[in-house]
Amino acid sequence: MSIQNFKQVLPENGNVMVVKGLSLGACAILIYVTWQILYVRLFSPLRNVPGPFLAKFSGIWLLYIEMAGKRAKTVHELHRKYGPVVQLAPSEVSFTTVDAIEALYGVQSLFPKAPWYKNMTRGGVFNRIEHGPHRERRKLLNHAFSPASVNDMAPLIRDQVQKLMRVTETHRSQGPQDFRHWFRMLSFDVSGTVFLGQPFGGLDCEKAPQYIEDLDSAFIVWDLRGRFPTLMRLISTLPSKAVRHFLTADDRIYAHGVVAFDGYLARHGRQSGRKDLLTKIVKRSLDQKEGLTDAQVAGEISNLTFAATDTSSNSLTYLFWELAKQPDLQAQMREELKDISVSAGAGVPDHRDLLNLPLLNAVINEALRKHPPVPMGLLRAIPTGGKKISGHFFPAKTIVSVPCHTTHRDPEVFPDPESFSPQRWLEHPNGTDEMRKLYMPFSKGMRNCIGQPMALLTMRLTVASLIKRYAVTLNETMKPENMEWTDHFLVIPNGGCFLDFTPVNE
Ligand code: HEM
Repeated sequence: MSIQNFKQVLPENGNVMVVKGLSLGACAILIYVTWQILYVRLFSPLRNVPGPFLAKFSGIWLLYIEMAGKRAKTVHELHRKYGPVVQLAPSEVSFTTVDAIEALYGVQSLFPKAPWYKNMTRGGVFNRIEHGPHRERRKLLNHAFSPASVNDMAPLIRDQVQKLMRVTETHRSQGPQDFRHWFRMLSFDVSGTVFLGQPFGGLDCEKAPQYIEDLDSAFIVWDLRGRFPTLMRLISTLPSKAVRHFLTADDRIYAHGVVAFDGYLARHGRQSGRKDLLTKIVKRSLDQKEGLTDAQVAGEISNLTFAATDTSSNSLTYLFWELAKQPDLQAQMREELKDISVSAGAGVPDHRDLLNLPLLNAVINEALRKHPPVPMGLLRAIPTGGKKISGHFFPAKTIVSVPCHTTHRDPEVFPDPESFSPQRWLEHPNGTDEMRKLYMPFSKGMRNCIGQPMALLTMRLTVASLIKRYAVTLNETMKPENMEWTDHFLVIPNGGCFLDFTPVNE
């Protein structure tokens, strides 16, 4: 064939080839889609689990919801629509049933945490995925967090609550005060005191310390790394100072932990008589051959600061927001507190006097029910061999969870769930059987919150001190939408919580 002839033939054959190629492509897509539909409808082990159509095929919609901070509320709506078992992605399911709570979080549960946790914090008790390694690490920490041990350090926490009382008094005449900020500073200073040997000074100045900014960024970075590990590795190579600063927020947090721990050792040594958590952890590490190394202690105390702060401060923020709308409830609490002495603690009671006050504890329970700081389902993975839960069989590695935002709103167990009603805890001080099964702001079982006694102690001291001395009302600048929230593992309120505190004898 001459070159001339070849040129004449080529376009025609080329067109044929393009058409053939397109047809083949279309066929392949058709076969893929048909196979996907057949698989999802006939063969998928999750084919009988109800859920949105898209969730059967892809997890992208869920990722979008999560990135927008709407996971807990969206999953809640899905449970209202589809019932107690809902498919969220091809390999992810959410439950609201008691047998699921038992299987995932019960004392006997051997479900590992989902791989997502690997990027949340670095190598501490919180992100040990498998049960064996988790149990080993937890054993080395448990003693320091027991109620008795936490009671030992009540005076240290009381000092910080006293500071908050001073701040409340001095700022009363200085315009609208954002108590979301002040409760955060309280939680940070409590954490600094018990984990790092000294407070961060958050209650001593107007501006939040840099550490807190880093903590806010670290949260988002961990979440993004968990969901898009490769993309995040790529982004970290970008030659931008601002991006690098943002992505290295957690480096600074852990570096701070090392410096703070070194400072603690220089000031107090390894055998001090201090009653804080760090001293107890260091002593146990000395006593045991298999104890924590210095680097591990420094890592854990950084993790603890992250676990302890926004959880406790969010709880206090929402609790006071609710109280500010119920003056009668405050009056009843004041009545309960009237014989509690605050003379030795400069306005702050002794924690032991608060332990058994029914209304105070009912108010705290109700705040944690209606506004759990970790509202989403805590992700676990179905272990090897698969597992039957709530009538469905799930293969190994399916991601499963039970969101407490939803279990706490079961109207059969918590009637009128959107009302703030401590009364329900007064009628049943330890909760009914059903309430106890569904109530889990601190999670349950072997991986529950190690800091629960400390969080409750801090809340009792703060609520009792402020309510005994002050009537709290919403500041006129306070908008209800400020307390709307998104969730990125933790709840993040949309705005500040502007409250007025007026001494009750004024
Ligand atoms: C109102 C306050 C708090 C709430 C609602 C809360 C809630 C939780 C929840 C739901 C978990 C389980 C997380 C998961 O499985 O992914 C958890 C774990 C944890 N919390 Fe808290 N927390 C609070 C305060 C604290 C405090 C004050 C500390 C430190 C003293 C702390 C330290 C931890 C640690 C270390 C873990 C991991 C435990 C483990 O995996 O063994 N938390 N918390």
